[in-house]
Amino acid sequence: MKIAPKRFLSPIVLPFSPVGQKKRIAIIPGDGIGKEVIPEAVKVIAAAGAEVETAQFDWGADRYLADGITVPPDGFAMLERDFDAILVGAFGDPRVKTNIHAKEILLGMRFKMDLYANVRPVRLLDAALCPLKGIEPKDVDFAVIRENTEGVYTDAGGVFKQGTPDEIAVQEDINTRKGVERIIRFAFEYCERHTKIDGSPRNRVLMCDKSNAMTYAGGLWQRVFREVGGEHPQIKSEHMYVDALCMQMVRDPRPFDVIVTNNMFGDIITDLAAGLQGGLGMAASGNIHPGKTSMFEPVHGSAPLIAGKNIANPFGAILTAAMMLRHLGFDGQTDRIEAAVLEAVRQKKTTQDVGGALGTREAGEWVAKKISHG
Ligand code: NAD
Ligand code: IPM
Ligand code: MN
Repeated sequence: MKIAPKRFLSPIVLPFSPVGQKKRIAIIPGDGIGKEVIPEAVKVIAAAGAEVETAQFDWGADRYLADGITVPPDGFAMLERDFDAILVGAFGDPRVKTNIHAKEILLGMRFKMDLYANVRPVRLLDAALCPLKGIEPKDVDFAVIRENTEGVYTDAGGVFKQGTPDEIAVQEDINTRKGVERIIRFAFEYCERHTKIDGSPRNRVLMCDKSNAMTYAGGLWQRVFREVGGEHPQIKSEHMYVDALCMQMVRDPRPFDVIVTNNMFGDIITDLAAGLQGGLGMAASGNIHPGKTSMFEPVHGSAPLIAGKNIANPFGAILTAAMMLRHLGFDGQTDRIEAAVLEAVRQKKTTQDVGGALGTREAGEWVAKKISHG
């Protein structure tokens, strides 16, 4: 079944609590600009009239520096048990050089809650936001499906003879048959269930890898991609090496539809893709395990250099909240939020990074008012 056109940033809709019951959302703003953009997203959720209950958590650098706690005992089990979704800002603070809290909280949620599909839609809202010549919104409308629980992020490896001239550092790239198969299946199913913004069907899945150099892991991805692709004859299976894909993305992003890739390549190409959308301030993402409590976060980080100045763009966080509401089944509210953000961009009621003159709070307020008063 196709989701109706004129919608974007849409993950698979899986209602999973009884009709009539309020959805529960855990809010974790985190560090830096996360603490500025998430309140704007929460404001917009309220303006859209979504029937939700929220609870805020102070997990992040301040809490870690105060009491040494990154994730309270039972924290992930609590999130799964008590919440339908999680809205997160960003983690990363110059005072925590090891980045241990970000690893334990952010990667902890992804890994321990098994949120294996990182869905990063790439949509250009207005031609003025794209650094490429002659590129229109219809030309940038694809999704990156990033494997989110394996690869070089698993912390497998170690150091030997640290600090000596003979030091050895090993960082293993873990690829399991199960992990590769489920993310590739997710990508084909995403392609089947989602239309493009103009209502035309999605019909291509491109796997990007580095199988010319990383032959063992690449070989597994290639074999599984062929197998799963064979089960979806109506969808065209395509392949590119990740380096060539980066070049293509900035030369001409029009051919892309659904891209599936591993954890690290997905991280890198989605910052590149954010550039096509107007920068990191515009990019949304969801960390999804169908049927389980999923976590939504903008693609950007905590941007310490601009934190606390009311200049961070809140739209990535607002579009992320919209993506979360769509996931929870609030279609009408999501449509209103997406339409209001689109209008804000068109009227330049935005922060400076995307051409406007508003502050973080003022841009969030403009979108919230647009939703409430039209
Ligand atoms: P970053 O995304 O924080 O910033 C990169 C650049 O984009 C900076 O110039 C920043 O000013 C700009 N930028 C980012 N978001 C913006 C917004 N909303 N509005 C306007 N400009 C914006 O990435 P970084 O500088 O590489 O990392 C900073 C910290 O964030 C690090 O600790 C890093 O590990 C962490 N990080 C966390 C997440 C996350 O929690 N999901 C994601 C990426 C980076
Ligand atoms: C992202 C971030 C994270 C990642 C970092 C903070 C570990 O860059 O969500 O894109 O690499 O996944
Ligand atoms: Mn990243």
